[in-house]
Amino acid sequence: MAEIEQQSAPGSEWWRTAVIYQIYPRSFADANGDGIGDLPGITSRLDALSELGVDAIWLSPFMPSPQKDAGYDVSDYRGVDPLFGTLDDFDTMLAAAHERGIRVIVDLVPNHSSDQHRWFQDALKAAPGSPERARYIFRDGKGPHGDLPPNNWESVFGGGMWTRVTEPDGTPGQWYLHIFDTSQPDFDWTNPDVREEFRGVLRFWLDRGVDGFRVDVAHGLIKKDGLPDYTPDPEGGSMGGDEDDVPYWGQSGVHEIYRDWHALLAEYPGERALCAEAWLPTLEKTALWVRPDEMNQAFNFGYLMTPWDAEELSTVIRESLDAFGGVGAPSTWVLSNHDVIRHASRLALTVESPQGDGIGPRTEPKPDRALGLARARAATTVMLSLPGSAYLYQGEELGLPEAMEIPDEFRQDPTWFRTKGARYGRDGCRVPLPWSGTSPSYGFNDTGASWLPQPAEWAEYARAAEEGVDGSTLELYKELLRGRAERGLGSGSLVWEDLGRGTVAFRRGDLHVAANLGEVPVALPAGASVVVGSGPLTGRELPVDTAVWYTLAD
Ligand code: GLC
Ligand code: CA
Repeated sequence: MAEIEQQSAPGSEWWRTAVIYQIYPRSFADANGDGIGDLPGITSRLDALSELGVDAIWLSPFMPSPQKDAGYDVSDYRGVDPLFGTLDDFDTMLAAAHERGIRVIVDLVPNHSSDQHRWFQDALKAAPGSPERARYIFRDGKGPHGDLPPNNWESVFGGGMWTRVTEPDGTPGQWYLHIFDTSQPDFDWTNPDVREEFRGVLRFWLDRGVDGFRVDVAHGLIKKDGLPDYTPDPEGGSMGGDEDDVPYWGQSGVHEIYRDWHALLAEYPGERALCAEAWLPTLEKTALWVRPDEMNQAFNFGYLMTPWDAEELSTVIRESLDAFGGVGAPSTWVLSNHDVIRHASRLALTVESPQGDGIGPRTEPKPDRALGLARARAATTVMLSLPGSAYLYQGEELGLPEAMEIPDEFRQDPTWFRTKGARYGRDGCRVPLPWSGTSPSYGFNDTGASWLPQPAEWAEYARAAEEGVDGSTLELYKELLRGRAERGLGSGSLVWEDLGRGTVAFRRGDLHVAANLGEVPVALPAGASVVVGSGPLTGRELPVDTAVWYTLAD
């Protein structure tokens, strides 16, 4: 086979090569023992992240919020919810991270606020057509009495995308749009007030010293003119990305907003970064979000959604490097986050589960735990060898599976409520982390309280139980991250190799990477010496569901 070499886009900014660890604050570490993780908890556990070897952390929202969507319903963009601590706690955490050389990215939720946000409360009190209403998307209903929603759009969490309000005089009134829960009204981003307000919010956090933002639902801010009816593909994932030309996803008007933010970040010293959460149908489209004057990174959800198949995995890697490289941006890589089934379970699923649906007690057959973990370790071994920036989600370094047996009464994802339990939603990937021991809450705090129950078998996944244990998932991650840093794998070229059917193989300089996604063991070349493996080898044979980094003797 002819050698095909792919180059990652040049540039030295930190975000081009960084490994960024996602912290889901409510489930990371709980300092005050109320069962919900908090900012002091994060500060107290930063050493564990230094030891792991990550470059940056991204914190899911910790701003004041009624917590209807676990903080993605923000009522005040310039503060900290008392549940998670205070602004001082934030500053302390930020300084402690920076002291350790760890950068900090915060989550910005610009598509919608909480219905408890002052602006929305003002809008409810104001008249139709008022400037207060114009910050959100209020419309009159259809039908002679206005009692039908303005269009047929369906919420990502199930049910309609419109809710009718009662006007201050007690009469049934206008409707407002919410892509997500009724408690999350969408802003009207064609309104200059909204744009100005968010410039202020960006400055607030930049002034405090954050290194960047992960931008929530970055593909939703602009809706198509006239809000035309649209019926999504019922088989599709809830965040979009399955179809072209959805009137509320990926409209071209979003780009000028991100150009404006790019210019604003550029006024600040250091290299501040913007990363888009945008679920789009193709990598080419995703790449438009990271043109030189827009965002710096966009999540590679195409990579995350790729099934365990060698050809598909090779293709998505090749296309990602081409598409992002084509606009001078690094590719990103991600396998898990707080919205998807953890990859240690997902990669062993034999039933369809579109993004957002989740898995639970009714799911049959259940994913095999050992198979899922083997594939997850192999998948990560490949991912951390790729040029570009990689995202890790808290707990994947422990090999955590999705928690499937959460009793109904504990579930909190709005998806669960809005679909009356038909879809489990995302609670299964949000269970508090096990840190140590076998007692309740496994060191998440000292009290044993936990907002979602942790499965009994999680004692074996506790960080302390894996620390220093040869072959543990935690030690594998540390080795991969160390090797990635030492060898500078975050940048440079990738040369494709061919080890036959069912394999993904390439070379990064003199380091070779091979993964066996097929059905039979595959022989590595003579002289291969393994640097790190996701599982044990039998002689020179690479077993199925295993990946290795190796070098060749001259
Ligand atoms: C993003 C978040 C998700 C949240 C949604 C609404 O997709 O990742 O957790 O529910 O936006 O803000
Ligand atoms: Ca707490």
